[in-house]
Amino acid sequence: MTEKLTFPPGFLWGTATSSYQIEGAWNEDGKGPSIWDTFAHKPGKTFHGQNGDQAVDHYHRWKEDIRLMKHLGLKSYRFSIAWSRILPEGVGPVNTPGLDFYDRLVDELLANGIEPLPTLFHYDLPQALQENGGFASRTTANQFADYAKIVANKLGDRVSTWLTINEPIVFAANGHLIGDHAPGFSDIQAAIAVVFFQLLGHGLAVQAIRSSASRPVSVGIALNLSPVYPATPAEEDCKAAALFDSLQNRSTLDPIFKRSFPADLLELVSLLLPPMADDDLKIISEPIEFLGVNYYSRTVVRHDPAVPFVELAEVHPQGNPYSMMFEIFPSGIYEIVKRIQRDYNPPKIVITENGIPVADEMDLDCKIRDVRRIQYLQDHLTQVHKAIGEGAPVSGYFVWSLMDNFEWAFGYRMRFGLIFVDFDTQERLTKASGEWYRQVISQNGFIPRINYTDPDF
Ligand code: FCB
Repeated sequence: MTEKLTFPPGFLWGTATSSYQIEGAWNEDGKGPSIWDTFAHKPGKTFHGQNGDQAVDHYHRWKEDIRLMKHLGLKSYRFSIAWSRILPEGVGPVNTPGLDFYDRLVDELLANGIEPLPTLFHYDLPQALQENGGFASRTTANQFADYAKIVANKLGDRVSTWLTINEPIVFAANGHLIGDHAPGFSDIQAAIAVVFFQLLGHGLAVQAIRSSASRPVSVGIALNLSPVYPATPAEEDCKAAALFDSLQNRSTLDPIFKRSFPADLLELVSLLLPPMADDDLKIISEPIEFLGVNYYSRTVVRHDPAVPFVELAEVHPQGNPYSMMFEIFPSGIYEIVKRIQRDYNPPKIVITENGIPVADEMDLDCKIRDVRRIQYLQDHLTQVHKAIGEGAPVSGYFVWSLMDNFEWAFGYRMRFGLIFVDFDTQERLTKASGEWYRQVISQNGFIPRINYTDPDF
């Protein structure tokens, strides 16, 4: 029999969600519109024009959702706070009902023994701030810190672990360059400024949380990281891979941990950089207690002179299985963790997102046997365990996602949840993967299986 993989004592087992993807109630109780409300209401922007107006109605069903978390035995729950619920205009007077929602959520989580892990910004910028340039403007970085202060003042007597920003590169690239996410721009100069000012906002928010919370806090940022491979060993493909690594990974890791930007990146974008102040990099590199890593897959790139500016393109190699969205590549999570430890040495690493979309189907006995998801999670956790065994300081792991939800431009087509949601009735049903995860948590580990063909959950 294969040996059980046991995780360190106190390992933080959790699941993750974000406000726009689950809450709904987009205009209730004084909430202001966010850029995702605006974007998803425009025709043609999302799959079948779907939006998060109702999402999975978590704003009203939060108590039931916490009961489901309790059933899973979660040690922690990562959620995000909708800035425009707290400050409908992004700045100005606080909308008390909005803040109270998260206040109650935190109390209920704690009452159930679940540690709250809020993220302050997960793509849904208040629309009013976008009108003034959004994160392409330095002002927004300062306003982000003011908002962080308000939230930390309110929740900082009970919340000890915080994330500032989720995936600054995705927000910059998809929202401002590719344009398939809100606010839907194709403006390279804006995209570069958005990376920079989110990083600045992150550093300022770290300071703000630390000075406003009344208990000792642990603060981090969640980065989408991915090991980059050249499509072939040809020199030009290797160069393309190195550049993409700078864009995807080092553009945020280097300034946060080394107080500098990668030289190849600076050279590439030198004429497009926003004006920087003397101590910006010092603020960006404000020490953090942990690094959040969102991992889904690796990236393979080749040189492509037809692509303006970067002259590279992503390729989708054959040989490994694919999910509905990406290549399945479990060893990539090991690689990225080891690399972070070697090159940046953060005090702690938390896997803040990892998961897979599956076209879940209900069997006649009303069970959802999502064996692909179990296999994916098991194989990635096996790699995380290996890295921990070699000394990597990984202290927690969060499945994306607690429950099926609105997957941005893909709408409700991509189901990532451990819990199935019927999007018409909003009924919830724990999938086999949820029962499997429950067992992993209760045993603080698992015995790996080669193939999950018939799960007994
Ligand atoms: C990540 C996002 C998260 C979710 C997953 C699938 O990039 O942070 O909101 O969409 O991908």
